[in-house]
Amino acid sequence: MKNKILVTGGAGYIGSKLSYDLTDMGFKVVVFDNLSTGSKKLLNKKAKFYKLDISKSKNLKKIIKKEKINIIFHLAASLDVNESMKKPIKYYLNNVVGTENLLKSIHGNKSIRKFIFSSTCAVYGNVEKELVDEKNNCSPVSHYGSSKLVAEKIIENYIKKNNCSAAILRYFNVIGADYKLRTGIIKPSNQLVKKLSNNIKNKNYTVNIFGNDYSTKDGTCIRDYIDVNDLSKIHIDVMKKLKIGNFEILNCGYNKGFSVLDIIKNFEIIIKKKIKTNIKERREGDVERIRANSNKLIKFTGKSYKSDILKSLRNSLFWENKI
Ligand SMILES: NC(=O)c1ccc[n+]([C@@H]2O[C@H](COP(=O)([O-])OP(=O)(O)OC[C@H]3O[C@@H](n4cnc5c(N)ncnc54)[C@H](O)[C@@H]3O)[C@@H](O)[C@H]2O)c1
Repeated sequence: MKNKILVTGGAGYIGSKLSYDLTDMGFKVVVFDNLSTGSKKLLNKKAKFYKLDISKSKNLKKIIKKEKINIIFHLAASLDVNESMKKPIKYYLNNVVGTENLLKSIHGNKSIRKFIFSSTCAVYGNVEKELVDEKNNCSPVSHYGSSKLVAEKIIENYIKKNNCSAAILRYFNVIGADYKLRTGIIKPSNQLVKKLSNNIKNKNYTVNIFGNDYSTKDGTCIRDYIDVNDLSKIHIDVMKKLKIGNFEILNCGYNKGFSVLDIIKNFEIIIKKKIKTNIKERREGDVERIRANSNKLIKFTGKSYKSDILKSLRNSLFWENKI
């Protein structure tokens, strides 16, 4: 019999895509989401949905047992770096207490065999070398990054004491939309690709750049952008490879860096129009430059994941025009 899978945050951008890919493969999926940033419109109708808050609900244990869950993908979280600098408590409560509550609810449940957690490159902070591997020192500069690092540690301790397995997936910057356009980012966001796609849809060919005096090739921040279709596939590949007792931390990126200006130029190629830039102050919590060394992931899954930035940006535009 196929495993039954819980996706927390399954009404969000990445969780909804993952839940579609899982049901496409014939898995039964249960979604927990409080719809704080997620949307009913993204929910996969084939998944069973529970509207609940993982940091507060007293029913997690009962539902997980009743649904006979074997595998958990834990994506539910708050993730706005800039907001986390203004509301740190919100981030610790949702991301740390939420994770703790979820782990408490599976304590003693022998059916749960695999726990896969959505972490972030924000746990690394400002890195000395642009290319980071999982052994890199973690020194987050945002409360969002710190809250995820604490959650990682709680999971590690739990897994080592219980006969379970876990993977911590440290995503770099996630972009694009489901290639069948079933899911994408719905909520307005300051995330560069989302913001630009939305501006272009509204025929507003301008964008704000937060800081152009960083020590990078063109003064703007550098990020490693991973396509959401690949990221979802990575979750499933990792799920298949995890063995009981495994605890793995895996970077999810392409080893490739794009500056803010690179992204804008790629959009200009697609829309064949010039985009005007407005230079603003640097934002608190933003990291200067970071790129993933994902060799460990590639070795673990035995697969390689290839970036095609133009395809991801086009999908993001198609999605924006659809919603
Ligand atoms: N989007 C990125 O670039 C990125 C990068 C690194 C890591 N991540 C991680 O990926 C995960 C998913 O992010 P996303 O981009 O899909 O964001 P999202 O906001 O679209 O999804 C998060 C989902 O979790 C739900 N949620 C939040 N708190 C909850 C709670 N207490 N109980 C139940 N549901 C709750 C929200 O309603 C939402 O549906 C997060 O853990 C995030 O930290 C995302």
